[in-house]
Amino acid sequence: MIYNAKDCDFSEYTDRVRALNSSENKKVYIFTFGCQQNEADSEKILGMANAMGYDKTDDPDEADMIILNTCAIRQHAEEKALSMLGRFKSLKRKNNSLIVGVCGCMAAEEHIKNMLKTDFHYVTFTLEPNMLHRIPELVYKSLVEGKRSFVIGEDRGDVVEGMPMTRRFGHKAWVSIMYGCNNFCSYCIVPYVRGRERSRSVNDILNECKALVEDGVKEITLLGQNVNSYRGECDFASLLERIAAIEGDFIIRFMTSHPKDVSDGLIDVMSRYSPKIAPYFHLPLQSGSDRILKAMNRTYNRERFLSIVDKLRAKIPDICLSTDVIVGFPSETEEDFRDTLDILDKAKFDMVYAFKYSPREGTPAAKMSEQISMDIKEERIARLLKMQDAISYSNNEKYVGSVMTVLVDSLSKRKDKNTVNARTYGNKLVHFEGDESMIGKYMQVKIDRAGIYELYADKNNND
Ligand code: 5AD
Ligand code: SF4
Repeated sequence: MIYNAKDCDFSEYTDRVRALNSSENKKVYIFTFGCQQNEADSEKILGMANAMGYDKTDDPDEADMIILNTCAIRQHAEEKALSMLGRFKSLKRKNNSLIVGVCGCMAAEEHIKNMLKTDFHYVTFTLEPNMLHRIPELVYKSLVEGKRSFVIGEDRGDVVEGMPMTRRFGHKAWVSIMYGCNNFCSYCIVPYVRGRERSRSVNDILNECKALVEDGVKEITLLGQNVNSYRGECDFASLLERIAAIEGDFIIRFMTSHPKDVSDGLIDVMSRYSPKIAPYFHLPLQSGSDRILKAMNRTYNRERFLSIVDKLRAKIPDICLSTDVIVGFPSETEEDFRDTLDILDKAKFDMVYAFKYSPREGTPAAKMSEQISMDIKEERIARLLKMQDAISYSNNEKYVGSVMTVLVDSLSKRKDKNTVNARTYGNKLVHFEGDESMIGKYMQVKIDRAGIYELYADKNNND
């Protein structure tokens, strides 16, 4: 069901908390782990916090409310969140009225919720990601009744519209178009913590995109755990086409896609609207072995995957491709792993995000008998990255000497000189000399050097 937060008691609680906070200068510290979906959710969390009278701070020491937006995809992400949470214990000792909330995918895991409830007494509330609109209620109950709340929803089939949102950037924006996942890949926790697939309505999405473009946003990234299985009043290809038809100087990206939902119609729309629909596709492979793909429940095989890559390259010649790969899935043999290397060699991705398989409690793969040792996972991932580095570099080298359009994104963290990070339509990172005033502008730059992960442009050619 699709409903509006403003039609439930959301607004009432927001108003009540704002009234309680009205005489004070309250601050909120929000830290986000994980994927872009979480980044987008954190913009809603900040929007609600602002509506309740909390201003953003980057310093947890001065916060009246701390919210961690967590990720559960791998063990490592959970450990990082728990270690950060541990640091807030002393803050609560100093300030007993401090609210500490844990949102995101970890908060939707029963065993984590129970652990936080019993062992982390300074945690005020946990709230699974589909229930974000209940934050004002939980904050109110903590402030007024001193109540701790631990919420895992029973019904994860809703889409809630109308939550306030404070966006982090002026030139780019995330727009969630669907939530959840029905695929149950055997290694993945997402379907358990984010629930089944449900899509926003076409009109809600179009209105949001139109408003963003009117506000000067230059890059819209459509988000969903399984973005290309969008099923509102139309399919994903038609939705893309309708967004691309909005007048304005902006580009559209999307992530993350499942290979099973890459239709010919989608490739056709991308080719017709390139570069307004950016010529970039993140297409998670996970493994190049048919046997492992089957055990992962991925529903495609090598042949089908490579045929999608071929079609994308044939229809959109300048397309850039990236992928996710898991090494060391249970029972993965050296031969299976070589099949993965073989596909990487054939597909020539621009970027590969490689992960060591991490068992997730409650998923079928965690119970499989032939778990692979950490030593083997590390050895395989190192080999994979070494091979991929050479491919990425050789792909990047082809751009040297060419003039490319880039959208300037941010200041680079390099301290030695003023450098900006920019992105090509194909999502390649480009560094060149520049300053803050360039952020959010499209520029033509001449590439003069290639790295493995980035390109470099000469500042003399920026004009
Ligand atoms: N272990 C390692 N990597 C995982 N991913 C998802 N679940 C796991 C897991 N249990 C990876 C997949 C996915 C990306 C977002 O994270 O490659 O595409
Ligand atoms: Fe996880 Fe697979 Fe769904 Fe992606 S498609 S979120 S990997 S279950």
